[in-house]
Amino acid sequence: MVVGVLGAGTMGAGIAQVAAQHACEVVLVDLNQDMLTKAESNLDKVLARLVEKNTISADEKINIQGRITYSTDSSDFKACKIVIEAIVEKIDVKHAVFKNLEAVVSSDCVLASNTSSLSIASIGSVLSNPGRVIGIHFFNPAPLMPLVEIIPAVQTSIETLDFSKKIIDSWGKFGVVCKDTPGFIVNRVARPFYGEALRIFEEGMADFATIDWAMTSVGFKMGPFTLMDYIGNDVNYTVTESVFEAFYFDPRFKPSFTQKRHKEAGYFGRKTGRGFYDYSENAIVPSATQDEVLGKKISDRILAMLINEAFDAVFMQVASAVDVDIAMTKGVNYPKGLLKWAEEIGYSTVLNTLNQLFEEYGEDRYRPNPLLKRMVKEQKSVFNKIG
Ligand code: NAI
Repeated sequence: MVVGVLGAGTMGAGIAQVAAQHACEVVLVDLNQDMLTKAESNLDKVLARLVEKNTISADEKINIQGRITYSTDSSDFKACKIVIEAIVEKIDVKHAVFKNLEAVVSSDCVLASNTSSLSIASIGSVLSNPGRVIGIHFFNPAPLMPLVEIIPAVQTSIETLDFSKKIIDSWGKFGVVCKDTPGFIVNRVARPFYGEALRIFEEGMADFATIDWAMTSVGFKMGPFTLMDYIGNDVNYTVTESVFEAFYFDPRFKPSFTQKRHKEAGYFGRKTGRGFYDYSENAIVPSATQDEVLGKKISDRILAMLINEAFDAVFMQVASAVDVDIAMTKGVNYPKGLLKWAEEIGYSTVLNTLNQLFEEYGEDRYRPNPLLKRMVKEQKSVFNKIG
C-alpha cells in the first residue's frame, strides 16, 4: 500500500519511518527541499543505530530507505490510499492544503491530519467528500511512542474510521478512538499535571524542586517543572492557552501567570538553557524539601485533579475508561492509568480530596466530576459503567 505523508518535520519524518518500517511504500512531501534532505539523512542515522543494536538487519535498513520517495510535489500522492498531513498548526493553511490534496488523490483516498489542537470537523469542511477526513494523532517521537489517537469527525464515514484503525494496528501502535474535542484525550487529561503544579507553586506551598520530587515519588518519570522545561514553556503554555480558549474558558484549564512570565522572559526550558531551572554549566541545582507530609499533600492534590479530568473524559464520552488509561500510559508514559490508579486510592478518597479543595477555594476549577460522584454513590467501577 502507498501512504502519503505531507510535511517532513519532526512528526512527518517520524510517521514516514513508522509506515516504511511496516512494509508500506511512502511518499513524503514537503514544500521545503532542505527539510526533505534533513529527514532523509536523519533516517539514515536512526536506522544505522538500529542496525548497530541488532534491532534490524542491514538489508532491512536498505529496504526501509528504499520504500520512501522524497518529493516537493504533492501530485506524487496520486497512488496513495491514505495521506497523513503533518504541517504547520494553522487552520487556514490546513484548509488550503486539504482542498489541494483532494484534487490530487483518488476518490477513495483517506485524508488524515496529525493536528494536536485543531478541529477535525473544521479541517474536513473544505472537502467535497468530507467522509474521508479523520484525525490520526501520533506522539513525539512517532517511531517510539506507542499511542495513536484516532479521531473521527462528525463527517467521517465508518469506512474511513475502520480503514484508519486497521492501518494503525498494522503499524504496531495502540490506536484509541476519541471524540473530536479540544486536546483529544492526552492533551486534555494531562493539563492538571502542569496547571495544578503551577497553582501549588503560586500559592507558596512548595518550590519547583519539591513539587517535582513529590510527583516523582509517586512514580512519574519526571516532575511537572522538569517536564515543562523539557517540552518548552513556549509550546506548553500555548497548548494550555488554546485548550482553555477551546473549552470556552472553563476555569479547570486556566493558564498560569508564572508560566506566562517564564515564556515572556525567554525562559523556555532546556532549549534556551533556562526555564524553571537553570541549565547552565555551573548552575546550582536546587534541592527538594523532602517533607513526606507536604509531598503527600502535593501529590494527592495533583493526582486528584488528574483523575477528575480522566473521569470527565469518560463522562463526556471522549473515550472509554480503558482507552483513557491506555492513552496516558502509552502516550505520555504515566506510571499507571489514572482510572486504575483511582481504584487503588479509592474513589471516595479522591472525591474527598476534591470536595475539600472545592470547599476551601470555592472555585469551579475544583468541582468533582458527576461520574466520579455517581460511581462513589453507586459503589461501581467506571470500567463497568454502562451507557
Ligand atoms: P515541524 O515544524 O517540525 O514540521 C512542519 C513541516 O511542514 C516543515 O517541514 C514545513 O516545511 C512543512 N510545511 C509547512 N507548510 C507546508 C505545506 N503547505 N506543504 C508541505 N509542507 C509544508 O512541525 P511538527 O512539530 O512536525 O508538527 C506538525 C503537525 O503535527 C502539527 O499539526 C502539530 O500540531 C502536530 N503534532 C506535533 C507534535 C510535536 O510534538 N511536535 C506532536 C503531535 C502532533
